[in-house]
Amino acid sequence: MPGAIHAEGLVKTFGDVKALDGVDLDVPEGTVLGLLGPNGAGKTTAVRVLTTLLRPDSGRAVVAGIDVLSRPTEVRRNIGLSGQFAAVDEYLTGRENLQMVGQLYQMSARDAKRRAGELLERFNLADAADRTAKTYSGGMRRRLDLAAALVVSPPVMFMDEPTTGLDPRNRQQLWEVIEELVAGGTTLLLTTQYLEEADRLAHDIAVVDHGKVIARGTSDQLKARTGGERVEVVVHDRDDLPTADTVLRGLGKGDTVIEEHTRKLTVPVTGGAKLLAEVIRELDTRGVEIDDIGLRRPTLDDVFISLTGHAAEERENGRPGPDAAAADDTTTTGQAGTTKEASR
Ligand SMILES: Nc1ncnc2c1ncn2[C@@H]1O[C@H](COP(=O)(O)OP(=O)(O)OP(=O)(O)O)[C@@H](O)[C@H]1O
Ligand SMILES: [Mg+2]
Repeated sequence: MPGAIHAEGLVKTFGDVKALDGVDLDVPEGTVLGLLGPNGAGKTTAVRVLTTLLRPDSGRAVVAGIDVLSRPTEVRRNIGLSGQFAAVDEYLTGRENLQMVGQLYQMSARDAKRRAGELLERFNLADAADRTAKTYSGGMRRRLDLAAALVVSPPVMFMDEPTTGLDPRNRQQLWEVIEELVAGGTTLLLTTQYLEEADRLAHDIAVVDHGKVIARGTSDQLKARTGGERVEVVVHDRDDLPTADTVLRGLGKGDTVIEEHTRKLTVPVTGGAKLLAEVIRELDTRGVEIDDIGLRRPTLDDVFISLTGHAAEERENGRPGPDAAAADDTTTTGQAGTTKEASR
């Protein structure tokens, strides 16, 4: 399995924080695993262990067929890493940064130059190629760092939140680059907080929370677990949220998720359009004015809420969501707001 990633029982503790609490992962060769989780879930810690930057307290891992703990140097020769925080040399130009990486990997000066040129084009950095990286914006640094991770084409790549901080156009382009890379046979472990990103890029998704994998499967499998469609209502007046909540609980098939600031309520339903009409009638009877209402299929965010009791990006300050009872065969951890993390 030269391109695969395999981890078993990874545990890593920092003081009294269990950053990894027994993580098992399997990424078959040539596939993408999306490691999805909120701030502090343990994603970066898992990446650091798998890329030999951090020793776990216990557990084992094999990357590209090589044991991570006993043969780290060999592992490093077979992997590429783009970390969560861009690691570029500020005093070199974009082009020099990329050429330097090529030469570190023993490319000839000519090949390194050619490869740097290709990547600068690919990542929309050609115009800024000959400026020092310290003049780059955050998104440009991020792209330069990703380009650096792609100078050589290692069989296994790790990308830690590759699109955080990118604007929509650059995010889209990076997705295309990643898709090409994977079509070429690269195995990729990608961490993200964006459900749509995992949905688009990953063959398999592992949802992590509090250092544990709480669910895994394809995006479709995870969505299927949350049951049917959702009715989404935006009420006109914030004071109507409790009344609308009562109506939705009565007609829906589970707890309502309320987003106070957008005045939006969401509830799982069966019965589709017919039920939608009923919701509208009932809200009307009670004098609740609505700005918007619709029926939609479950998103990965719904999966996250039903598994963890909180939305993926709401951990620090969000209200705890509904009971985590929707996931029957999974250990769930529903305590919102228990992780303190320095903001980035
Ligand atoms: N070097 C460290 N020393 C102390 N605590 C740490 C260290 N690294 C990570 N942690 C803690 O371990 C937990 C997991 O952190 P990790 O960086 O793996 O999360 P993450 O899923 O990557 O989060 P984010 O989405 O914010 O990047 C957090 O509670 C974090 O504060
Ligand atoms: Mg991280």
